[in-house]
Amino acid sequence: MLDVEARRQAIQATLDASRTASERNRLGQFATPPALALDIARYALELWKARNEPATFLDPAIGSGSFYSAVRQTFPSRMIADACGVELDPRFAEAARDLWSASGLRVRPGDFTRLAPDRTYNLILTNPPYVRHHHLAREEKDRLKTLAADRLGLETSGLAGLHVYFLLLCDAWLAPGGLAVWLIPSEFLEVNYGAALRSYLTERVTLQHIHRYRPTDVQFGDALVTSAIVVYTRSPPPPDHQVRLSLGGPITAPSMSEMVPLTAFRDVKKWTALPGRPAPIDGHSPTLGSFFTIRRGIATGANSFFILDRQEALQKGIPPEYLRPILPGSRHLPSSVIESAPDGYPRLERSLALIDCDLPEPEVRRRFPTFWSYLEAGKAQGIAAGYLASRRSPWYSQEHRAPAPFLCTYMGRAKGNGNPFRFFWNRSRATAANVYLLLYPRGDLASALESRPDLYPLILAELQSLTAAGLIHEGRVYGGGLHKLEPRELASLPAGGLLRL
Ligand SMILES: C[S@@+](CC[C@H](N)C(=O)[O-])C[C@H]1O[C@@H](n2cnc3c(N)ncnc32)[C@H](O)[C@@H]1O
Repeated sequence: MLDVEARRQAIQATLDASRTASERNRLGQFATPPALALDIARYALELWKARNEPATFLDPAIGSGSFYSAVRQTFPSRMIADACGVELDPRFAEAARDLWSASGLRVRPGDFTRLAPDRTYNLILTNPPYVRHHHLAREEKDRLKTLAADRLGLETSGLAGLHVYFLLLCDAWLAPGGLAVWLIPSEFLEVNYGAALRSYLTERVTLQHIHRYRPTDVQFGDALVTSAIVVYTRSPPPPDHQVRLSLGGPITAPSMSEMVPLTAFRDVKKWTALPGRPAPIDGHSPTLGSFFTIRRGIATGANSFFILDRQEALQKGIPPEYLRPILPGSRHLPSSVIESAPDGYPRLERSLALIDCDLPEPEVRRRFPTFWSYLEAGKAQGIAAGYLASRRSPWYSQEHRAPAPFLCTYMGRAKGNGNPFRFFWNRSRATAANVYLLLYPRGDLASALESRPDLYPLILAELQSLTAAGLIHEGRVYGGGLHKLEPRELASLPAGGLLRL
């Protein structure tokens, strides 16, 4: 079994590599990662155990068979009575047949939306093609809309993607009482085009469970969508039915889970508005410190000596390799997004540089005489003997602080919006002095940002939406209404909103 799965993964990789990401996007060809398919199959098995019947399995978009493979790895063979996979792309249909027909999978090549069911199935596990509406030809959309209207009496939006029709049209393939588990983009929970799906799930079948993955643990590194799992059985919902709503972590062990009455799903337009406490992380409610390592910026001990206008520093003969970009004070930052010039300095009217050199004094004197004169002048002013500088070796080197993608001002007075603190998204390579707090993404958030740069502006917006009241409450007030915020105070602010990005 595992041999076949290893072959499947190799074939999947070869087929994926033969198409560009945009071709795969148009064809909705993003395979389910094996670990995710396995987790979903394990979850389905748990539900299946309460049934006393063998499974007849269907994947209407089988691809190379990630879900079939996962089911075979988790369900005992005697529990699988029949299995069928539909696939439009002949290369995948052939691969699925080669890999799985010996174990009993029947592959039906063709367009699922054009096929009539050969029988009904009581277990559907699938990740349907996420083909957005603008990749569907007008006639195709009209045909699909008519089908949904004729078969289910549901009116679908012209903005619905192919996956919406897959789920609706699968109704005819699902046996009465059958279990369906769909991995689909989570946007149907709230967008207008999801209305037909929401209506189907609340009126026609018994919605059992919706699990949302956190955007920070993106399921498909290459597809850039946030995914949800929708679980339902084909039977009318009983009165007082409750639906499990869960968020974060794997579906077999969600970070948060609660039961919500089905009526609540019917009553609200956007399901993202449904009750749901922010997911506890490691048993605690998430705070900014769950997502970021927060540190104060650099304390130089003598900013006017170590931080110079970049041009001036170069004129003084300080070698560029011992100058690092550093942000000016926040009043010199007109926008909350700090853009970067090609050399990593912030794109600002005036750029500042920080002296940071680890060469010993004799070497500086020998190699860079003009730089040495500047340092000597600093010594004469007592800079080298200052509290912080005298503890560094050499005294003109600096603490290490990598450029942080997000920053918050360390202190400020409440402005028109009542908020004394400002947040920034720093796209440059500039470090910052201790007038800022530096927010370094960590854990899941750090890995998510690697594959999803689109999250940066969303995170900035989320940071900016932290209320003035919360920030002021955590921080401290000094004379004249001056507020200060230490790293641990900022870290303790509730940040459940980041989970819902
Ligand atoms: C998101 S992939 C999922 C594949 C596989 N089930 C998995 O989870 O890895 C969707 C698959 O549906 C296929 N597909 C696209 N349009 C289809 C259609 N109209 N009928 C049947 N299959 C289709 C694609 O070729 C692709 O293999």
